[in-house]
Amino acid sequence: MKEKLIVFNWKMNPVKEIDALKNLQETIRVLPKKNENTIVVCPPPIFLSPIAKKIKKILLGSQGGFYEESGAFTGENSLKQYAVLGVSYSIVGHSEMRARGVSDEYISLQVSSCLKNKISPIICVGEKERNDDHWHFHVVKDQLEKVLKGLNPTQAKKIVIAYEPVWAIGKNALREATKEECMEMIIFIRRVLSDLFGEKIAHSIKILYGGSVDEKNARMFIENGQSDGLLVGRVSLQPKSIKQLLETLVW
Ligand code: PGA
Repeated sequence: MKEKLIVFNWKMNPVKEIDALKNLQETIRVLPKKNENTIVVCPPPIFLSPIAKKIKKILLGSQGGFYEESGAFTGENSLKQYAVLGVSYSIVGHSEMRARGVSDEYISLQVSSCLKNKISPIICVGEKERNDDHWHFHVVKDQLEKVLKGLNPTQAKKIVIAYEPVWAIGKNALREATKEECMEMIIFIRRVLSDLFGEKIAHSIKILYGGSVDEKNARMFIENGQSDGLLVGRVSLQPKSIKQLLETLVW
């Protein structure tokens, strides 16, 4: 199996630093011996610094970050500051951020700042709902074109796309996505990337799947869904499930 990218999004969890450090230790402890996949943990910003001091064998990611480097931006932490801490990936455009008002224009600025600071942006795209009219393809294409506007092919090589159908995310998910739904959107996204940056670069960009991924369906989304990795939410706080999930990806 080609090396996969597995990203654990802790969202706004846990509450205490001691538990965040415990979760990091557990994640490292359950790594399979023969693991060849790249594993990234994305804790809340308040825990990035203590985790950066203890992390090994896996990589550190942030959940977004502000695009300006420093200055009069009360309440923000910059991607530059995260880069200095050792962050190498950042989740941008997550539907939970979009739901709080983050726009494609803002995400596009974050993408530029990530690249400037040698952080790979994990750009989330996905439709809120599906109807029989295939409008979801249009929604995803529109998000990609707006967020990737202005990137040149060399910059595009550093990005990661995460397809996350909003209806399949979180504990209120409508249902799990099927392998066919995952596969057809991954193929479609690669075609959009190919139109933007050329076929060779489109094939080098990792496209992840996210939305209720667990130890039972992880391999399916990679093997049959043709994704290059996974963006995992709830399960990233459950060591037993992390262990089983990662073990299903060693083959
Ligand atoms: P979930 O979250 O795995 O809990 O559905 C995925 C995500 O929001 O990235």
